[in-house]
Amino acid sequence: MAKQILVTGGLGFIGSHTVVELQNAGFDVVVIDDLSNTTLKVLDQITEITGTKPAFEQIDLRIKEDVKAFFDKYQIDGIIHFAAFKAVGESMHKPLDYYENNLGALVYLLQEMRDRKLDNFIFSSSCTVYGQADELPITEKAPVKKAESVYGNTKQIGEEIIEDATKAHDFKAIALRYFNPIGAHPTTKIGELPIGVPQNLIPFITQTAAGMRDELSVFGDDYNTPDGTAVRDYIHVVDLAKAHIAALQRLLDGNNKEKFEYFNVGTGTGSSVLEVINAFETANSLKLNYKIVDRRAGDITAAYADTTIANKELNWKTELSLETALKSAWEWQVKQK
Ligand code: UD1
Repeated sequence: MAKQILVTGGLGFIGSHTVVELQNAGFDVVVIDDLSNTTLKVLDQITEITGTKPAFEQIDLRIKEDVKAFFDKYQIDGIIHFAAFKAVGESMHKPLDYYENNLGALVYLLQEMRDRKLDNFIFSSSCTVYGQADELPITEKAPVKKAESVYGNTKQIGEEIIEDATKAHDFKAIALRYFNPIGAHPTTKIGELPIGVPQNLIPFITQTAAGMRDELSVFGDDYNTPDGTAVRDYIHVVDLAKAHIAALQRLLDGNNKEKFEYFNVGTGTGSSVLEVINAFETANSLKLNYKIVDRRAGDITAAYADTTIANKELNWKTELSLETALKSAWEWQVKQK
């Protein structure tokens, strides 16, 4: 019998791509989403890609009784927990909403796992836990630094909650520390749907190329990097989605070495903002209107992953290039018009 996997936030950007990969790998998927940052159309799009409609429950995970009722209804073999607020700037203005949604819901899910003796939990974490790491590339041994944002703090505390829970209770978990997820599914049926003015680089680039924004602001060219612009590790969302299947399989097979593990999920290659702009222009044969402005508050100079441990332990590696990701991001943007 196929294993039944709960994906919370399964209609979001990374969640939807992960649902597709889970279904492709033969898992039965149940999606929970509260539709606060996505629409039901994504469910139809997933169904078009895979030929199978995942079970769907519209649930707000902050409502404990609804979480309980869900687990009364379904037999779950593993949970991939994406559902969370993710806007760094907004998190500074709404700290309590972020803590309630990102940590309250997490605790409720883990309590159900404890009470029902469920196992196998995968958590969406972030490279933001490292802050500006002292050494690059960043290995899992790099210390977790005090979070600069409330959002980042929810990821750090989330990891701590999970680790403490795995010590006390009989389940195991993996946190995946994502670097910068970008791109869209090759079918262009699912992708990133930023609401309002995008804060992240790639959606801002594609919306500028599409004429929705006048020009892209490059935040700072006086960083201590080869061309002065900040460096990040941009990973194709399909590669990132596949890392979740690898992590889940590790837990299902009992191949984990600790009850709580964490892995860096990136490509291992850093790209500067100007390199991304150039790659975008080349991949899509167009010119982008941009100007250099001041640094953005809170931005770090450089972050890219050492993926040695993830590659080995998860038996996973990225397969898709920056160019492929930027092409898919643009194709997705064009389709939104
Ligand atoms: C941010 C969050 C991170 C989150 C990630 C994905 C911070 C400190 N970190 O990462 O926690 O997981 O988003 O949602 O906010 N840039 C421009 N012009 C733009 C937009 C961005 O030059 O209009 C630059 C930024 O300065 C940065 C790079 O592009 O150097 C990437 O920015 P962004 O896509 O926002 O991701 P991060 O800031 O790395």
